Amino acid sequence: MNLIIYGMIICGIVIMVTNIYRFHRFVKGSKDVFSTGSQKETLWEYAALSLLVFFLVGYILVAILGKPDFVIAGILFGGSVFVAIVLSLIFYLIATIKDNAINIAETLISVVDARDPNLRGHSRYVQNVTMALYDHLPQEKKEGINRVSLEFGALMHDVGKLGIPEEILNKPGALDEDEWNIMRNHPRLSVKIMQPLKSLREILPWVEYHHERIDGKGYYGLKEEEIPYASKIIAIADTFSAITMKRSYKPPRSYEEAIAIMKDAAGTQLDKELVDVFISIPKYDLLSCVPEGVEV
Ligand SMILES: [Fe+2]
Repeated sequence: MNLIIYGMIICGIVIMVTNIYRFHRFVKGSKDVFSTGSQKETLWEYAALSLLVFFLVGYILVAILGKPDFVIAGILFGGSVFVAIVLSLIFYLIATIKDNAINIAETLISVVDARDPNLRGHSRYVQNVTMALYDHLPQEKKEGINRVSLEFGALMHDVGKLGIPEEILNKPGALDEDEWNIMRNHPRLSVKIMQPLKSLREILPWVEYHHERIDGKGYYGLKEEEIPYASKIIAIADTFSAITMKRSYKPPRSYEEAIAIMKDAAGTQLDKELVDVFISIPKYDLLSCVPEGVEV
């Protein structure tokens, strides 16, 4: 009997320690584009973590100081299992909410794609290349940029094109000055579309400044360090996608041509350090970023 009682208590303690570890990892890993980062959110996280630790300490004290019988061991063991189930349910629900948010974003992007045949697959391509570049950055450069947030920002970077008239998006020839001015408004429109979602605040500047140039000749005239680092990463991916994708007004260019053009643009249009990292990415890795159905 004693063996069963102590077996249940030890199993319960192991489950409870695992619960605390899972919760801590979850809280750390959830600081992404879907987190509001508010004081209230942080407070609730600390409260939940403290309660779990309090439960574990109480559990150990009862096991050591008390004379646990079968009922007490059952309550302690059952409590740990209950917490494990509730945590699993919370993690599952949050993952579902995140999935739904991503599906909504993808729906918006497919509307952008549908309105402009030249953009079909471009957002997904930019997202894939952005992540390939991010994964090749040195660790210190990745700090301050959450991977999930960057993935989301790269996917949504051109969502503002929803607000650009189709006759401009699909114009077969070159755009005139007025049309360019309307087109240049798309990063601002992207921000307007995403602004109501509080948790996206962090990525708004990344999206808004993805057409900035290091030499200050971009849409807003920001230069060098004034441009958010994440925007510089997206700009590299955007440029690579634009060069290598087939458009109605131009044939696709090869990987080698794209690299040559980007080397020329390093230090003026694109961040030189980022271009250096970009060209170190194996050719195959970049080519595998092309989404299905996209002609390059
Ligand atoms: Fe853009």
